[in-house]
Amino acid sequence: MRENVQKLGSILFKGGCGFYRQLSWKGPERRNNVLFFFVLFLCAVFVSAYWIDASITADSKPANLFKVLRKPKRRIELPLNCTAGNLTRTCPAGYPSTYESGKYENSSAAPVCPDYFRWIHEDLRPWKDTGITREMVEGAGRSAKFRLVVVNGTAYVEKYRKAIQTRDVFTLWGILQLLRRYPGRMPDLDLMFDCDDRPLIRSRDHRGPNAAPPPLFRYCGDDWTLDIVFPDWSFWGWAEINIKPWESLLKELKKGNEMTKWKEREPYAYWKGNPYVAPTRRDLLKCNVSQEQDWNARLYIQDWNRESQQGYKESNLEQQCTHRYKIYIEGWAWSVSEKYILACNSPTLLVRPNFYDFFTRSLVPGRHYWPIRGNDKCRSIKFAVDWGNNHTQEAQAIGEAASSFIQEELKMDFVYDYMFHLLNEYAKLLKYRPTVPPNAIQLCSETMACPANGLQRKFMMESMVKAPKETGPCALPPPFDPATLQAFQREKQDSIKQVETWEAKSWESN
Ligand SMILES: *[C@@H]1O[C@H](CO)[C@@H](O)[C@H](O)[C@H]1NC(C)=O
Ligand SMILES: *[C@@H]1O[C@H](CO)[C@@H](O)[C@H](O)[C@H]1NC(C)=O
Ligand SMILES: *[C@@H]1O[C@H](CO)[C@@H](O)[C@H](O)[C@H]1NC(C)=O
Ligand SMILES: *[C@@H]1O[C@H](CO)[C@@H](O)[C@H](O)[C@H]1NC(C)=O
Ligand SMILES: *[C@@H]1O[C@H](CO)[C@@H](O)[C@H](O)[C@H]1NC(C)=O
Ligand SMILES: *[C@@H]1O[C@H](CO)[C@@H](O)[C@H](O)[C@H]1NC(C)=O
Repeated sequence: MRENVQKLGSILFKGGCGFYRQLSWKGPERRNNVLFFFVLFLCAVFVSAYWIDASITADSKPANLFKVLRKPKRRIELPLNCTAGNLTRTCPAGYPSTYESGKYENSSAAPVCPDYFRWIHEDLRPWKDTGITREMVEGAGRSAKFRLVVVNGTAYVEKYRKAIQTRDVFTLWGILQLLRRYPGRMPDLDLMFDCDDRPLIRSRDHRGPNAAPPPLFRYCGDDWTLDIVFPDWSFWGWAEINIKPWESLLKELKKGNEMTKWKEREPYAYWKGNPYVAPTRRDLLKCNVSQEQDWNARLYIQDWNRESQQGYKESNLEQQCTHRYKIYIEGWAWSVSEKYILACNSPTLLVRPNFYDFFTRSLVPGRHYWPIRGNDKCRSIKFAVDWGNNHTQEAQAIGEAASSFIQEELKMDFVYDYMFHLLNEYAKLLKYRPTVPPNAIQLCSETMACPANGLQRKFMMESMVKAPKETGPCALPPPFDPATLQAFQREKQDSIKQVETWEAKSWESN
């Protein structure tokens, strides 16, 4: 192909430029000389464009200028086959399970993953020196909802306990989609997963060289525990409350965000949620506007039962970018709502959190959100809104930094790549060859989606990976070196202290 490109280039060059050169030499008028230089200029532009492009083609990347000459790649589709056998029990044969080289680009050219991927190394650090034994994994079984095993590219699950709603179902669905996205590239695995809210494996119970903490996967962690954080089920949909899979929701959030310009939004802080899951949320309700006080907060109770009866008309996430500020407050643990709240261009007023999920540790107060005190919420919210309405450019910059983080760094491609790298790094630590437990059943998209119905099935079909990805995952960034990590944590603390100092000063003067 490269030869063709070069031939075409030289024909155009010789033909086009040569012809005009002859013309201009013949004509005596100055006009022709002007024309000659103009044509020479055009030729130079063409040649340089051609040359730059040819140098790109040299490492076999498609050349933009000659894209039309490129042969279209054949895509391998993986349709869902619901007609094969008894699909509540068996998976169809013919899933690709080996990596066919040549189908993927050379991964050394892969772009580097977002910064939050570096926390993968931190989460796995407790096992860095000892590795992970079968006994450690089975120790985590005491609190797991299921055990997931991948052998030769096929997934097996052993369910231990019932999970809340369909958290386990959509988590397993997500892992199956990862296997469809990267067939033959997932290592053998054996892991325990807990779908409950709060982390359990306390660091203080597992100190020293023989600590052997049980590796337990879940959706969030905190500073006192060692649980390994993994993307939550809502990325594939939350059927019980009609929250769509992330890929399509993200596009709608973007559109919703464009509906009202920031300056035209209500100049208050908005929150809508369920206050009964945690005391701190009930405490927040005291900050609502009343006859006597206006803390600049507009707070509403989300009644999921009523909403589900009325078709979720009042809980459209796409239509919640109506206020200049949005409040995020944790529930019983981290809240799935954080990504939806950060996606509006309205700065998030983030009430001091106790938990983190897989992406939030890379968010910086003052850059991606505005910190709110946990123990003096009302005054803190009032100050934040006043400050933002006085400093509209800075406030908008915070809102935009967060929404572009969500749109670009948290898109579904990166969610899958995060899972890919986390599971790969985890598998490297295993000191035994995983085997299929006697009570485990084979899992595939067919056994899950074919018997499903209603919203569950709809969300599964919508979030299904339709074909293997042709390029590799992004490149995992290296671990933080301790000094960088410390400096980063200090930057975050300093930024919070700065805001608290401003608050204190303003309260003194009033
Ligand atoms: C589905 O599986 C059945 C049985 O294995 C096979 O006969 C059929 O051709 C498959 N259908 C598709 C669309 O692949
Ligand atoms: C499929 O297998 C399940 C579980 O053994 C059984 O209850 C069901 O009747 C089977 N369905 C068909 C169509 O054979
Ligand atoms: C990928 O690229 C690197 C560096 O360019 C090269 O050393 C390696 O052999 C390539 N691997 C494959 C599979 O092409
Ligand atoms: C996995 O592949 C290995 C090597 O091909 C084979 O020995 C083993 O039986 C396979 N295991 C399963 C569960 O398919
Ligand atoms: C907060 O105040 C607004 C305006 O008065 C009201 O509509 C809303 O219901 C209040 N929220 C709560 C949780 O009481
Ligand atoms: C906002 O501006 C008003 C008027 O200049 C001033 O009185 C108030 O202290 C400012 N508040 C903050 C938080 O910046």
